Amino acid sequence: MPHRSVSLNRHFFEQRMVHRELVGQLGAVITQIAFATKRLSLEVSRAALAGRTGAAGASNATGDVQKKLDVYSNEILIDALSGLGIVAAVASEELDHVHILDNTVGAPYVLVTDPLDGSSNTDNSGSVGTIWGIYDAAAPESRGVIKKIETEDAMASIKNGMPVAAGYVLYGSGTIFVYTIGDGVHGFTLDRELGEFLLTHPNIRCPEKGKIYAANVSRQHDWDPRLQKFLQALTDPKPNKYRSGQKAYSLRYSGALVADLHRTLLEGGIFLYPSDSESKNGKLRQVYECAPLAFVVENAGGRASSGSVRVLDTPVHTLHQRSPLFIGSASEVALCEQFLSGEAG
Ligand code: AHG
Ligand code: MN
Ligand code: MN
Repeated sequence: MPHRSVSLNRHFFEQRMVHRELVGQLGAVITQIAFATKRLSLEVSRAALAGRTGAAGASNATGDVQKKLDVYSNEILIDALSGLGIVAAVASEELDHVHILDNTVGAPYVLVTDPLDGSSNTDNSGSVGTIWGIYDAAAPESRGVIKKIETEDAMASIKNGMPVAAGYVLYGSGTIFVYTIGDGVHGFTLDRELGEFLLTHPNIRCPEKGKIYAANVSRQHDWDPRLQKFLQALTDPKPNKYRSGQKAYSLRYSGALVADLHRTLLEGGIFLYPSDSESKNGKLRQVYECAPLAFVVENAGGRASSGSVRVLDTPVHTLHQRSPLFIGSASEVALCEQFLSGEAG
């Protein structure tokens, strides 16, 4: 019997009895995101050939120098969602404000996105990714009311709601599409010849515990001392009560959150980007980096925290607000929180 290839559309169709929305407007948006990321996978791999490496000559709202691929990725993603009449607004790392799409009166969804994550890797062929999340555009009390979504509606949805779907795409040695609508986390690998994402990682579960941590340890001297003690507990060559006989953890850090997150999701461990004296609230952005990935990791049995608050409970005040991020296996993230609260260490 040949291996049954399950495409994204077939995967949605097979779930239609339980998740009708996957063969409706929600499935259509996720399919369009997948389409855009197929294009992005190609463009990322040929950036040097197309003259799309290097800086674009401007900075984004969080002060990051925009790379040409940041700007191009944002354009490709918005282009794929325009004209559908399903996405009313896009909140993007690369746009100062929420972008209201044309002709979207009554459109049910808002997209949050980091169109290209890991931009420091674009010119050295390192791994990069796309992060996305989908929210209901209208508040519960006004769902079904046909109205034009304005910026304040979109921000209200992002502030008050949980994502209805979230995921990421890793442009690494393979192009991997991972998504959840809150009922399991599923991974697909791009078959370039077919031009299809095929199911390769059904029902991903994040291991309860791992052996790897990911952090930019060049900032370690500047971290909360209780966090330095946590890292000491993971890396001390001498066994300790926090490692229950396990060897010291290894360090893996790629400079692209999506790449480090994907490895952590599959193999376990913890990714951490804490606050420090330079970045009082950390570097990563709550709306389009931390929250979508927290939704994915929690639905795979993992945990995601700002260090003291669950990421998905972190109050959102502004579109580009930063937040410290501790994400991965439930065991390590919980232990990290205990060190930070003084319960351990
Ligand atoms: P982006 O390219 O979207 O700005 O994200 C970069 C982020 C994240 O991908 C990565 O984990 C982190 O920046 C790396 O930061 P450092 O270079 O400070 O380690
Ligand atoms: Mn990013
Ligand atoms: Mn980015």
